[in-house]
Amino acid sequence: MNATFKIGGDLEINRLGFGAMRIVGKGVWGEPEDRAEALRTLKRLPELGVNFIDTADSYGPDVSERLIREALYPYDGLVIATKAGFQRSGPDRWTMNGRPEYLTAQAHKSRAQLGVDVIDLWQLHRIDPRVPAHEQFDAVRSLIDEGVIRHAGLSEVSVGDIEAARRVFPVATVQNRYNLADRAHEDVLTYCEANGIGFIPWYPLAAGDLAKPGGVLDTIARTHNATPSQIALAWVLRRSPVVLPIPGTGKVKHLEENLAARDIVLSDDEFASLDRAGR
Ligand SMILES: NC(=O)c1ccc[n+]([C@@H]2O[C@H](COP(=O)([O-])OP(=O)(O)OC[C@H]3O[C@@H](n4cnc5c(N)ncnc54)[C@H](OP(=O)(O)O)[C@@H]3O)[C@@H](O)[C@H]2O)c1
Repeated sequence: MNATFKIGGDLEINRLGFGAMRIVGKGVWGEPEDRAEALRTLKRLPELGVNFIDTADSYGPDVSERLIREALYPYDGLVIATKAGFQRSGPDRWTMNGRPEYLTAQAHKSRAQLGVDVIDLWQLHRIDPRVPAHEQFDAVRSLIDEGVIRHAGLSEVSVGDIEAARRVFPVATVQNRYNLADRAHEDVLTYCEANGIGFIPWYPLAAGDLAKPGGVLDTIARTHNATPSQIALAWVLRRSPVVLPIPGTGKVKHLEENLAARDIVLSDDEFASLDRAGR
């Protein structure tokens, strides 16, 4: 199994990354309850060989990007991917804003907040249906042309959306909800695989009913002396070489547990029975 992937064909990362949405307060709002532990979790990432971190301007808002800078600047080989396209008005409240001037301003803000010259990977958090898609795509194109961002990605999109965006800028990654038990975006993953686009499954740890005692996931987990979440991660890593999972946590212990999934080798039979159970 390939341990690395080249984003946009030239930015090599270790495939199992980290999602930095869980290092902020409840409802993805404000400062984390345990700030010291959140910083420890971030500092542990390079020690554990993680060099791909996903965040967004809206996580906190701003709190996640600031903590990443506080813990990890000047990054030394880490790829920090961020996003824009959501405004926040309180815990668990998200409002899309895909106006081009807003996206542009937020990308500049993230660049300053992270303290980088160029954002390695910047993702359009959502295609806002209230704004013509081409205006949003043109804004992304300009950010690339002006050197604000190096590579660009999309989030929660269909194959048709990706094809429309690719007519305007090279789509390096797609971030859609996907896990063993939630396979609605199989067609998008297949498209990404065929086109060398990184597929970043969010919520990768969810395994729902499959993880219940006596279920297929639970049984295979016991065989490997592992947890069901570790097996869910091992499965998604094996699903395709373009898959770049970003499990999120604000706890060092959970981080260490999640990263141990890299060492789990599923047999062909185990992979197939998990695949069948999850479909
Ligand atoms: N593009 C989008 O629209 C979008 C949407 C949502 C998320 N994301 C990104 O995707 C990343 C992952 O998604 P996610 O955070 O929703 O889902 P996830 O990584 O599947 O699950 C995270 C949840 O599981 C818990 N957890 C993590 N490791 C654990 C372990 N070893 N044992 C027990 N519990 C554990 C975490 O709580 P603790 O902190 O207590 O460990 C957290 O509540 C986010 O961080 C974010 O970067 C993107």
